[in-house]
Amino acid sequence: MTRRHEGATLIERARPVAVHEAKELQHYGTVARLPIALDAGVCAASVENLNQLLADTMTLRDLYKKHHWQVSGPTFYQLHLLFDKHFDEQSELVDAIAERIQSLGGVSIAVAHDVAETTLIPRAPRGRDEAPVQMARLLHAHEIVLEEARAMARQAAAAGDDGTNDLLVSDVIRTNEQQVWFVAEHLVGQGAER
Ligand SMILES: [Fe+2]
Repeated sequence: MTRRHEGATLIERARPVAVHEAKELQHYGTVARLPIALDAGVCAASVENLNQLLADTMTLRDLYKKHHWQVSGPTFYQLHLLFDKHFDEQSELVDAIAERIQSLGGVSIAVAHDVAETTLIPRAPRGRDEAPVQMARLLHAHEIVLEEARAMARQAAAAGDDGTNDLLVSDVIRTNEQQVWFVAEHLVGQGAER
């Protein structure tokens, strides 16, 4: 009897865990303590800020792919390439921000429906726009990201979260500023300057 019971237990352990019966390891919005010599309150504040920035960066990243696919006009090829380059750079930022959140003990926002509910960047239409309209939309999204990233960088520095401050200043702000330059120069002399 005992041997048969042990066999049944072993077989049960070999069964994959089904998603519907799995317990969540950590709830979104909570911060697990890691030995990184930062107060829990500091980590929680940085995690909350970085999740907002993550949702907006994922939205900006996806706007670049949309415009890479849908661009048209005499500058089609150079914009097609430029938008994809910026998409790749924004993808790297997305990964760096998400992994910073996890490093602070937080839970990164990840999938489209959560991103759509969180982002501050206005919803873009599904249809195609002319290239200057695409670029104006991208510049507006960049400015939203830059404004919040600068405020978050100042807050992180004041709280002693130097790692978050460095990510925001060295990576997020510098990358976004340079991308703004590359996009904005296309609009000079087109009557579509902001
Ligand atoms: Fe492509």
